Parts: sequence; structure tokens; C-alpha cells
Amino acid sequence: MPGGGGGPGEPPAPAADATPAGDTAADDAGPASALPPHFARPDARFHASVLEALREYHDEGRHDEMDEDLFEERDEFARYCAAVNAGVERPGEPDFYFAQLYGTPLPGVWVDGYVPMTTLWWVAGDEYLGRLSIRHRLTPHLLYHGGNIGFEVRPSARRRGHATAMLAAALPLAAALGIDPARVDCCAGNVASRRVIVKNGGVVDEERDGSLFFWMPTT
Ligand SMILES: CC(C)(COP(=O)(O)OP(=O)(O)OC[C@H]1O[C@@H](n2cnc3c(N)ncnc32)[C@H](O)[C@@H]1OP(=O)(O)O)[C@@H](O)C(=O)NCCC(=O)NCCS
Repeated sequence: MPGGGGGPGEPPAPAADATPAGDTAADDAGPASALPPHFARPDARFHASVLEALREYHDEGRHDEMDEDLFEERDEFARYCAAVNAGVERPGEPDFYFAQLYGTPLPGVWVDGYVPMTTLWWVAGDEYLGRLSIRHRLTPHLLYHGGNIGFEVRPSARRRGHATAMLAAALPLAAALGIDPARVDCCAGNVASRRVIVKNGGVVDEERDGSLFFWMPTT
């Protein structure tokens, strides 16, 4: 969830200066619950909400790589947030984090295959609603599968327009990173994801292997 991949297969995150000003500015503005959803950097203040979301993701069989018991530990969660936030400076950092956590050997391909990635959380106050990642550039692998942008919304927050709004909010960030158009793909049978992409200007480029591949103007 939270992390989102960054290597051969998953999408990326925005540079520090590309993070919407709404994050800290909005958080200082008043009661958290009154704030509209906005992007925020992964941070320990979302700990409780992310844990709830993780349980929801696990119930639908997603994010098995994230251990609920482990992430209940605040220090470990903070380390995880740091790894995700370092995804821009150190490509593949979230995945290196998991590899170290579970003792998985690091395949050499990761070193060459990962690109800088910005991962932002879609939040309202201290409530985690979803995650969006932007890979700053495409490799041949990412062009083939994975693209520039990936996103998800926690199950309990779906069908309220969050994914549509989140992707719209990400387009200027992608443009600021020099991405135009953005490559986005989804499973052909994923009606919701397809709707989100098309509503944000995505145009189908090709359909193959059960997936749809879109180009989406960012400006
Ligand atoms: C795909 C996903 C991000 C959509 O999030 P969301 O916040 O529910 O999306 P929105 O509320 O913005 O809905 C967008 C459109 O999809 C429709 N939609 C949402 N869920 C749907 C569903 N289960 N079945 C059919 N349509 C659905 C909405 O009605 C809306 O259509 P409309 O604008 O024509 O009314 C979310 O379902 C999710 O996280 N799924 C698992 C991960 C995933 O598939 N990520 C995308 C990979 S590219």
C-alpha cells in the first residue's frame, strides 16, 4: 500500500519541491476533520489509520508483504515511512527496505531497474485514504508494464471519488517532473481504475496480456 513499488513492475513518487503545499499548510489551518483530502508525505502521524487500512487491504488479499504486527511498532513504521520518502533520492528504497526486513536476496536487476519514485498518501487530517506513486521516468520494462503512475484507495474509502481526485491532483506534479504524457496501465477488467484513468484524460494506446495501457496528458 503505502509504499508502492518502484522497480521493474511498479510505479514512482514526486520530488520534495513537488509535494503540494496543501500538506503542511492545510494541516495548520484548523480541525483536521474539516480539511479536504490532500496529498501528504508518508509520516508516523498516520500510523493508526494506516494500520486500519492495512487490515482492510489484507482482508481483500492485498499487501501481504506488510506485516500488521511488525507495523504496529511505531519505530518500525517510522523506518518504513523513511524508506518510502527516500524513494526519490535512492531508487528502489521501499523495496530494499522490505528485502532487508525479510532477508530476501537483492537481485542485481533491481540496481539497474529501479527509477526514482515519489509516493504520496491521500489523507484527510490524520486519516489515510489512499496512495499514489509517480515513477519519474520510464525504463523499457516500465513502458512494457507498470508505467509512470500507480494508485489505490483503501477499501472503506472507495466509491467516493478519491481516486479520481487523487489522480487529478497528481497530474501537475507529474508535469513538474517533466512527465508528459504519463504512461498508466490497469487490468482490462478493473472497471473502477479504467474509469479513473479515462476521466483524467487517459487514452488507450494498446491492450495486451489482459491489461490496458494508456497515455495521459499531464498539462
Ligand atoms: C481502482 C480504485 C483506485 C478506485 O478508487 P475509488 O476511490 O473507489 O474511485 P472513484 O470513487 O474515484 O470512482 C471512479 C469511478 O469508478 C466507479 N467505480 C468505483 N468502484 C467501482 C466498482 N467496484 N465497480 C464499478 N465501478 C466502480 C465509480 O462509480 C466512478 O465512476 P463514475 O465517475 O462514472 O461514477 C480502487 O477501487 C482500488 O484501490 N482498487 C484496488 C487497487 C487498484 O485497482 N488500483 C488501480 C491500479 S491502476
